[in-house]
Amino acid sequence: MIIVNSITELLNATKKIKGSVGFVPTMGALHQGHLSLIQQARKENDYVVVSIFVNPTQFLEGEDLNAYPKKEEADKKICAWVGVNILFMPTSEMMYEPDELGIIAPAKRGFILEGSKRPKHFDGMLQVVMKLLNLISYHKPSTVRAYFGKKDAQQLALIEQMVRNYFLAVEIIPCEIIRDRDGLALSSRNIYLSPQERIQALKLSRSLKRATRLVMKKEFNVATITQTMHHLLSEIEVEYIAIVNRQFQPISEIEIGNTIILVAGKVGKTRLIDNLWI
Ligand code: PAF
Repeated sequence: MIIVNSITELLNATKKIKGSVGFVPTMGALHQGHLSLIQQARKENDYVVVSIFVNPTQFLEGEDLNAYPKKEEADKKICAWVGVNILFMPTSEMMYEPDELGIIAPAKRGFILEGSKRPKHFDGMLQVVMKLLNLISYHKPSTVRAYFGKKDAQQLALIEQMVRNYFLAVEIIPCEIIRDRDGLALSSRNIYLSPQERIQALKLSRSLKRATRLVMKKEFNVATITQTMHHLLSEIEVEYIAIVNRQFQPISEIEIGNTIILVAGKVGKTRLIDNLWI
């Protein structure tokens, strides 16, 4: 594995690539969820590139940008161990100039749910993903596949739309949510949870499990399922429970194969999201 810290070094390294590239963008503090994305990229491509960059433009004022977990040495070891070819670790100064041309998330899908709770978060996320995808595709390798987890379902939908709208020559590969044995969806932010808060946090995945059971019993009414979930989450500061179709439009009846149930809430000071694809 080679570690590159500048854009010039990255482009020199990717110039030598002959074959397909699997790209996994991350903000570091790698966990089993990232590992499964990297392993899938490893299986499906000739080369694997991983980026670690805590992107400042997707954090709002007062969010955890400065406190975002950093585990650089462990991350490097993990990447080498799973067969990453190139690890790209740029600085903000390399990625941005002071008066940048921005990207604005689409008005409907970009400003609901996460977009309404974290205004401008998606603008910054799309901006950095566009930069990273362009850098990885710079020398036009045969195929570029970029791997994103379904846990950030709205992020994934917006990236897919950006690739479509800007005709980017990249294939987006959605990957399954990875959970701890107790059901908690893996997130770099889980390390903020105290043991007591972790027990509380489990209610998020349990509410989704309950929703699955209701659907299995042929309860398709969105209002009924949402109400049951709210009841289960009464001890958590719920930000939203939303049941939408895969285009992120609100629905009143569950449509098997075209529905996502999303939940976001705060446990202590930690904001968590989870979802279920039906
Ligand atoms: O999901 C993430 O970790 C980030 O939003 C991403 C896609 C790496 C962009 O900074």
